[in-house]
Amino acid sequence: MIQFSEEKLNKVKEIVARYPEGKQKSALIPVLHIAQDTFGGWLDAPVMDYVAGLLQLEPIEVYEVATFYSMFNLKPVGKFLLEVCQTGPCMLNGSDDIIAYITEKLGIKPGETTPDGLFTLKPTECLGACGYAPMMQLGKTYREHLTREKVDQIIAEAKQQ
Ligand code: FES
Repeated sequence: MIQFSEEKLNKVKEIVARYPEGKQKSALIPVLHIAQDTFGGWLDAPVMDYVAGLLQLEPIEVYEVATFYSMFNLKPVGKFLLEVCQTGPCMLNGSDDIIAYITEKLGIKPGETTPDGLFTLKPTECLGACGYAPMMQLGKTYREHLTREKVDQIIAEAKQQ
């Protein structure tokens, strides 16, 4: 059943209360983050419908936002989501090679997850760390100045968790 815990519902109420009456749509992005973290790292339609109900929005209003931002996953992802930036500065500094190396090393193409459910490769747009190109986001951390050796290290560390 799709239902936030009491603690998470209180968090949602706290977020909604930051905005004027009737402007609960402003809470949508943080609430979608909570939903994604709570329900397996991605947002399927029933989860988005649940969020719509909580915030008294039409489901389409939630779908529009969830499908626009790359930080929301619309299909299941692995335990470790390798979000490799592929925008200009990262591309000029070798992100294509990093993506190709991850594909070769893990046997997954962009958008795919390893059969063991551990890793998903997700090329993404600028993550605002262009000065550290090429880079990726892994969970809540940024991994910067990527090289093939650093990718090896990141994957080895993840496998030990
Ligand atoms: S271009 Fe990669 S972080 Fe901005």
